[in-house]
Amino acid sequence: LQIAVLASGSGSNLQSIIDAVERGALEAEICLVLCNRTDAYALERARKAGIPTATILHTEFETREAFDTAMIAALNAAGAELIVLAGFMRLLTPMFIQTFAGRIINIHPALLPSFKGAHGIADAVDYGVKLAGCTVHFVDECMDNGAIIAQAVVPCSTAESADVVQKRVLAFEHRIYPQVLQWIATKRVTLTGRKVTVQDTGL
Ligand code: GRF
Repeated sequence: LQIAVLASGSGSNLQSIIDAVERGALEAEICLVLCNRTDAYALERARKAGIPTATILHTEFETREAFDTAMIAALNAAGAELIVLAGFMRLLTPMFIQTFAGRIINIHPALLPSFKGAHGIADAVDYGVKLAGCTVHFVDECMDNGAIIAQAVVPCSTAESADVVQKRVLAFEHRIYPQVLQWIATKRVTLTGRKVTVQDTGL
């Protein structure tokens, strides 16, 4: 499976995917790491691992469609079969999502459908939840809305800061994202309507 990872920042999830490929736990090849910021540390991680990178700055395009068209060209040129969003902080247009229909996944640092949006952890902590977590889901045209593939639950206390909870959640992100990718790479994931089943897992 040829996967492209889209990231805007630190890329710790990208790193977990690189590591899984390198230790043979993920039968896939990362054909491209695409970033919309030149200062994304994800680029550095990709270069260190010898993975092709592309930087496409959203600020250089007048419309979201124009930006997405440039990304689609780069992703197709790289031969991407699955688009993996890992801290990619731009909303995708319906055109992009239709181009890769059923082939885009995202990880969100909350137990969806709770706490959608860019501040999932802080919102959950402010709300006073006792269980935080993360969700891997297919991407549809509404933000953080697509069919859920896997979730991990992380206990937390109201005495803890968002930073502390975030670290704990991130550690689980790094476990479930490569696992979901391996399920997809081995064709065990089926999407029917908005229900996902994963062969031989009980999910
Ligand atoms: C993660 O918390 C992920 O859930 C969210 O963005 C963050 C990306 O972190 N979508 P990193 O860049 O992978 O370290």
